Amino acid sequence: MQAKIKALREQVESTIGSVHTKEELSAFWQQFLSKKGSIQDLMKGLGSVSAEERPTIGKLINEFKNEVNAKYEALAAKLEELELESRNKSEQVDITLPSKKISKGSLHPITITKDLMCDVFSGMGFEIYEGPEIEDDDHNFTRLNVAKNHPARDMQDTFYVAEDILLRTHTSPGQIRVMDSKKPPIKVLVPGRVFRSDSDATHSPMFHQLEGLVVDKKITLCDLQGLLDQFVKKIFGDGVKTRLRPSFFPFTEPSVEVDVSCFECGGKGCSLCKGTGWIEVLGGGIVHHKVLENCGIDPEEYSGLAFGIGIERIAMLKYGINNIGLLYENDLRFLKQFKD
Ligand code: DAH
Repeated sequence: MQAKIKALREQVESTIGSVHTKEELSAFWQQFLSKKGSIQDLMKGLGSVSAEERPTIGKLINEFKNEVNAKYEALAAKLEELELESRNKSEQVDITLPSKKISKGSLHPITITKDLMCDVFSGMGFEIYEGPEIEDDDHNFTRLNVAKNHPARDMQDTFYVAEDILLRTHTSPGQIRVMDSKKPPIKVLVPGRVFRSDSDATHSPMFHQLEGLVVDKKITLCDLQGLLDQFVKKIFGDGVKTRLRPSFFPFTEPSVEVDVSCFECGGKGCSLCKGTGWIEVLGGGIVHHKVLENCGIDPEEYSGLAFGIGIERIAMLKYGINNIGLLYENDLRFLKQFKD
């Protein structure tokens, strides 16, 4: 029996020397320490040992088992440690490496332009009001001095939602809503989406406008020109001049169309200004006395100026965009050009 133990000890020594992985360690345990292992076989062999020798041999086997067990435990701990070490090494991060570049989004050119326009006017003391996109006929037309069957309604092809309910065709109904809720002095901007059944290279069924309204004592056309002159200089550059041309809008009297001197050719005439040296940018005028009356404001005491600017038009002029559709296609190759 002692010889058997000795032979097994040698076998253990030689086997353990080649254990390098957890799998090999588990095979080692199966071979020697499990219930079906060689040490258990030795135990079973005790039966054939004489009664006098049995306690001594039993003790020897037990000591041997403890010895192999201790070797097993020590090796298991060592393998665990090695595994941890190699994992730490493979997961090591070099914090001195440059980080991956995260591509940042950018604002849409319409938003950039709207913000810029609002900034210019905010600097002049304008507050911002936003009205509803679904309007009633009353606010969109009637109280703006566009009565039912008025030919001016044909100027704007309207999307109706129900009878007398429509998608606002302009931001001008914002004027009525502001004057209903606030008494003069008034100085507001109404930015927002507007809708018209119209579509070509420069028109879209949905587009954006920025409305302006100032109501106070002694407001004149000079105030309008001064204000808009400042505005266009801030948007297109200091060298740009403004010119007012007579026009017609039902809600203003007199009404004007505002042109800027062509910032492309400096006024000499080019394809952008169609050879005229001037570019039309917005409409405005002195608020019609009937509109003030419709909002309970006495036109004898107060007067007002108003203007409406197409945001897409300003963006297209400023960035040289020749087709309005580009602004709505969300093609990243186009949009990425507006990163600041
Ligand atoms: N609402 C007009 C339009 O959509 C633009 C406009 C013209 C607004 C003159 C005004 C204004 O406030 O005074 O065509």
